[in-house]
Amino acid sequence: MSDRSSIVVVANRLPVDREVRPDGSVHWRPSPGGLVTALEPVMRSRQGVWVGWSGDAGDAPEPFEASGIQIHPVPLSAREVDAYYEGFSNATLWPLYHDVIAEPEYHRSWWDTYVTVNRRFADAAAEAAPDGSVVWVQDYQLQLVPQMLRERRPDLRIGFFLHIPFPPQELFMQLPWRTQVVRGLLGADLIGFQLPGGAANFLRLARRLVDLKPRGSEVEFEGRTVQARAFPISIDFTSIDSIAREDRIAKRAAEIRDELGNPRAILLGVDRLDYTKGIGIRLKTFSELLEDGSVTVPEVVLVQIATPSRERVEHYKVLRDEIELQVGRINGDYGNVGQPAVHYLHQSFSREELTAFYRAADVMLVTPLRDGMNLVAKEYVAARVDHGGTLILSEFTGAAAELKQAYLVNPHDVDGVKERLLQAIHADPADARRRMRRMRKQVAEHDVSRWAADFLAAMGIET
Ligand code: ADP
Ligand code: F6P
Repeated sequence: MSDRSSIVVVANRLPVDREVRPDGSVHWRPSPGGLVTALEPVMRSRQGVWVGWSGDAGDAPEPFEASGIQIHPVPLSAREVDAYYEGFSNATLWPLYHDVIAEPEYHRSWWDTYVTVNRRFADAAAEAAPDGSVVWVQDYQLQLVPQMLRERRPDLRIGFFLHIPFPPQELFMQLPWRTQVVRGLLGADLIGFQLPGGAANFLRLARRLVDLKPRGSEVEFEGRTVQARAFPISIDFTSIDSIAREDRIAKRAAEIRDELGNPRAILLGVDRLDYTKGIGIRLKTFSELLEDGSVTVPEVVLVQIATPSRERVEHYKVLRDEIELQVGRINGDYGNVGQPAVHYLHQSFSREELTAFYRAADVMLVTPLRDGMNLVAKEYVAARVDHGGTLILSEFTGAAAELKQAYLVNPHDVDGVKERLLQAIHADPADARRRMRRMRKQVAEHDVSRWAADFLAAMGIET
């Protein structure tokens, strides 16, 4: 049977960025993250619709088309950005779902706004979705949308994918609105998680909070069967691989090495400036290795790219100050004139420039305390078309379940990370190449198109 249902994606953010040209005219530039790249072909061929927020407070523009996708912007007032996005999404759910690394804040007014905004997204999707379409809701900002949408549009097939970890019940039970969130998700036919452990956590909570009786990955709820399964997300391997093969990228990588003073080893970190990413632990490890003389500047340098993120949320402000203090101290203690130990860049970069950094780095440091997947680790592997470089990877990332040939570390164990880092710096090149080849095969065979195709196939859509 050929199913030509259209697809509606509902996500906090739109796949386009607003751009104001010098003459004052407004344009929407595609911002192709992995998700939109993976979905674009299937969305184009099925009159795809994308419902999301533009990222600015205030009125939303009328629906418009971009790259063959119908864009339906959802407005958020400044107060709603505060309470729904910065508050409940990023100061309640984000820390709660990431092992309570920072303390979650529970405010009833934030919850009320989360409900209001989720309803607005559900209403926008209900209005935009053609008859019988498949709606795919994304991430923790919109966990109530599946149930709200089902109430309005029982004809739809509804999928949900959580990009971040789903916590164990010991932590989730803290949430004052825990039952509402579980019921919100149960509105979907298929609930996707990064790892099987997330799906198992969810099913256990469905038993405890809603009194359901899961069988394997399925559970009956209000006369429907709901599936909870793992679909580990990935990257557009081919695109990064081909950028990395361009001569200008190899040239730029050599230039970066040169600009850093041709060190023996370049260590690299690339993260949003987020307390889940373990940036502080990485800096501490490097600083202790400098202190005990295991490494010296300028033979070994660390480049830390820290993308600005959620800058109005208190925990993020505090983190930025802490990291910048640490960087300043290390450079003060171990740098030389014109030769810092840590090259700290609080900036966003183009895909090409990031790929050049990946190609230049001898050791990639990915040390989160908790991370749903961590795409940076997979991007590094995709960029190493030369099979060079070594990857230090935290056990507490989703990526660690797939990238088994990485140098796996427990980021809480500073001595363990130090030891692994020295092993990575002094790795036998043949062994390092063997590891990289195996990891590249894994990511190439499990790219983001396969992820999207697997999820949609489980929803009955062939891509
Ligand atoms: P998270 O989703 O928590 O931010 P991931 O590692 O899964 O973490 O994904 C981060 C994405 O952001 C990657 O695609 C990475 O290339 C991109 N990114 C990270 N830092 C930068 C930067 N400074 N400039 C541009 N893109 C960045
Ligand atoms: O992966 C988690 C996530 O929150 C995504 O939903 C989001 O696109 C990304 O991190 C960046 O976060 P934000 O949209 O808050 O800038």
